[in-house]
Amino acid sequence: MKTKSKMPALQSAQPSSRSSRLKMLKEILGNPKTPYPIDADTARRYYAQAESGKGFGIGSLSGETVDLAEYVNVQDYESLSPDDHLSWARLIEEQQSTKHRFACEEYLAGEKLFEIGGNAIPDYYLLNARIYQQTGWQLATVSKIIPAEVFFHCHSHKFFPVTTFMRPLGTDYLEEPDIGHDIAGHVATFTIPQVAQVMNNHGLANDLIHHEKEAKLKLAKSACERDAILKEATELLLYAGRLYWFTVEFGLVLQNNKLKAFGAGILSSPGESKFSVDSLESNRILIDLRDDRDLLRLATTDYLISEYQKTYFVLRDFDALDSLTPERILSTVHAAKNLPHHTWRELVPGDTVLNVGATMMSSLEKYYRLLADQDSDPCIRRTAIRNLRMYANGIATNRSRDVAFLKELPTVPSKLIAEFCRVDQGRDVKCGCDCKRTPHKTTDLR
Ligand SMILES: [Fe+2]
Repeated sequence: MKTKSKMPALQSAQPSSRSSRLKMLKEILGNPKTPYPIDADTARRYYAQAESGKGFGIGSLSGETVDLAEYVNVQDYESLSPDDHLSWARLIEEQQSTKHRFACEEYLAGEKLFEIGGNAIPDYYLLNARIYQQTGWQLATVSKIIPAEVFFHCHSHKFFPVTTFMRPLGTDYLEEPDIGHDIAGHVATFTIPQVAQVMNNHGLANDLIHHEKEAKLKLAKSACERDAILKEATELLLYAGRLYWFTVEFGLVLQNNKLKAFGAGILSSPGESKFSVDSLESNRILIDLRDDRDLLRLATTDYLISEYQKTYFVLRDFDALDSLTPERILSTVHAAKNLPHHTWRELVPGDTVLNVGATMMSSLEKYYRLLADQDSDPCIRRTAIRNLRMYANGIATNRSRDVAFLKELPTVPSKLIAEFCRVDQGRDVKCGCDCKRTPHKTTDLR
């Protein structure tokens, strides 16, 4: 959903001159009193690159780098249009009206520290140096939305992929990330150590999934087996992405008994900043990420990116994020693969509910909606189909944690599963190889 801002247009949005930006960069690079100081040689090389007029591509202050392959891009600052800067200035102005009420304290402090604001898009050379000095993270400029594997691989090396595209003037919310989302949403939250660490941990979990996939591929004996291994890795990444989505992107936190936003997806949309905290439309659920049940709840919850969220998860404090180690992320996504999932509208037994959203639905409703052909969004349909197939085939879990999670869910009536199976009559399709795997099925339910 895209909404048009009602704010009046600013008179002008002026970037500072190239010479004053270079002067500023020299001052930043010369600051030795930072948590991650930049040595003189590195600073000289970095400054020379900026001075040469070469666009900013990948931060080069840490000695590390990442391969962005075909997604590599540069920020050519001089080519940003007056409308780009105006769109940024309007976003910042609108944020002013919401952030002091809805953003967490650390975001406001981070914004000051990195000087995110003003009436012109930040020059990535300056911003990258500031971020590195304070957090050890750097920017890597990409051309478009990148695959999850590349995105999280960057995270494992403390590179944050950023776009060079600014949303059209007056747009409040976009499905795809832009400079407004990446910079005005994410960057200030790097100052929250637990958020920065959990982002890095997601990167390291991605590496674990990748290594696991590579090891299995070496042992695969058929094309069919290889396909299944690749499919599994994609699935695991999807579930890891949900943990990231409901925290780093759309997380709320309690501060002084008030709901505050720390998720970048929320903070980069002034409209959703207010909606996430104030609206009666969405569910809000208090979670403790140290609790396996709550972590599984996130990993098994599907969502859409096309509109404001229907459920927000609320942390008591940021410390709980420390429990999301790469190994625990890996173990959770493996468990999620074998469990029924939830739609983004659902409340389920065991949830600590702060607000029942007007769009809330029960766990069973999605199945009845599917069979009545009254599903109201794609999330309901795909989750219901996935789960009913799983129930029909029998759910095999052996870890007590996963069994406990499964038992918590309402029993799905056997007649309902039978009715689904009747409709979901597939026809067997040959694998195309000589392995002994159960034949694939196609179905009328899509
Ligand atoms: Fe994001």
